[in-house]
Amino acid sequence: MIHSVAIASVTADEILDSRGNPTLRTTVALADGTTASASVPSGASTGQYEALELRDGDPSRYSGNGVLQAVANVNGPIADALVGIQPDDQWRIDATLIAVDGSEFKRRLGANAILGASLACARAASLACGLPLFRYLGGDGAHVLPVPMLNILNGGQHAHDGPDVQEFMIVPLGAPTFREALRYAVETYHALRDVLREANLGTSTGDEGGYVPRVNSNAAAMDMLMLAIERAGYRPGDDIAIALDFAASSLHDGELYRLPREGLTMSSAEMIDYLANWMRRYPIVSIEDPLADTDWSGFSALTAALGADVQVVGDDLFVSNRMFLVRGIAKRCCNAVLIKPNQVGTVTETQDTARMALSAGYGAPVSHRSGDTVDSSIADLAVSINCGQIKSGAPAHGERIAKYNRLLRIEKMLGEDALFAGRRAFRHLV
Ligand code: PGA
Ligand code: ZN
Repeated sequence: MIHSVAIASVTADEILDSRGNPTLRTTVALADGTTASASVPSGASTGQYEALELRDGDPSRYSGNGVLQAVANVNGPIADALVGIQPDDQWRIDATLIAVDGSEFKRRLGANAILGASLACARAASLACGLPLFRYLGGDGAHVLPVPMLNILNGGQHAHDGPDVQEFMIVPLGAPTFREALRYAVETYHALRDVLREANLGTSTGDEGGYVPRVNSNAAAMDMLMLAIERAGYRPGDDIAIALDFAASSLHDGELYRLPREGLTMSSAEMIDYLANWMRRYPIVSIEDPLADTDWSGFSALTAALGADVQVVGDDLFVSNRMFLVRGIAKRCCNAVLIKPNQVGTVTETQDTARMALSAGYGAPVSHRSGDTVDSSIADLAVSINCGQIKSGAPAHGERIAKYNRLLRIEKMLGEDALFAGRRAFRHLV
């Protein structure tokens, strides 16, 4: 507990994210002079019920993407409401932010304005308490280092000219520690570069740092990934498994799923068969958004068919929101929920969703966004909830690396107490 060190000021600036789009950096100062900042990420393949990302819409600045109104909301109503509150009362801080906004989905102040303030308060409180952020947020029990799921081959909306599937991830679940897991992944990423060069397929990178080869099918991308794992000297499935994010809301035309690279148009049931076939061919441990966020009945059918053998992650479907997760649990949709703080807008709501998921037996991988900054708080968040999984893109680009480097640091800080989740992260494997 911190005594009589109230929040003295809350301010924000317009900065840039990894795509060069404006976002916010929010700074909280305490009465004792402690200051802390947090920056907010931004998605491209967003779910329709995500909390609102407030943009100015002024075409004369950044094609309408400026965030000066969100900045003004921090400097005005948010600062007015938070100044004087104790920073270590995160529940009260977030309840205040939610009340000042007063709308569903953070439409008045913007989730970008709200999340920056919520996170910066948590960071300031952790500094004032003399605790690392993961320990401040998670207490004494926070000690599990997540398995990284590294998106080393990009497609969909993150990569013009790439495959239809948005994310092809490697999952070094057989490593003994996080540090070793990262090394397995980096060696495989570099092997993939060599494999693609030899095949003259191009090694430009997408938004999340993965390569964007001009492959003519999604299966060809999978084969390249398998080759890279073996080339790096690892055993597919045992040392390094595969995870996919279809981001299928962006493949859905309202009725059918279209995979132009394969020349395929499929119903929900045919998508399930397509995935079952891939699961027979490749060591896949996790499939995210295999169907569109409107297709709840399809998700129930898919989870019944495949859920015993693979993690099925709802991203666009649940938008990190407890309300949608409750519905998903009741309908047996998915067996995991992706946790992205800016989809819901406050630290407390993010933790609530993750806690509910874990206690219902669902997985809760924590995730970056395709537009991100060097803010590394999701690394601490993942350890704080012992969820055992994190997505932060390829081992490339400063904003992706910042999270992995922070986890290296946390693992070192924890010393003997650190536990790398490994295969245990995936409930169907234990
Ligand atoms: P986004 O993509 O940040 O563009 O939404 C990440 C994801 O879909 O998981
Ligand atoms: Zn996703």
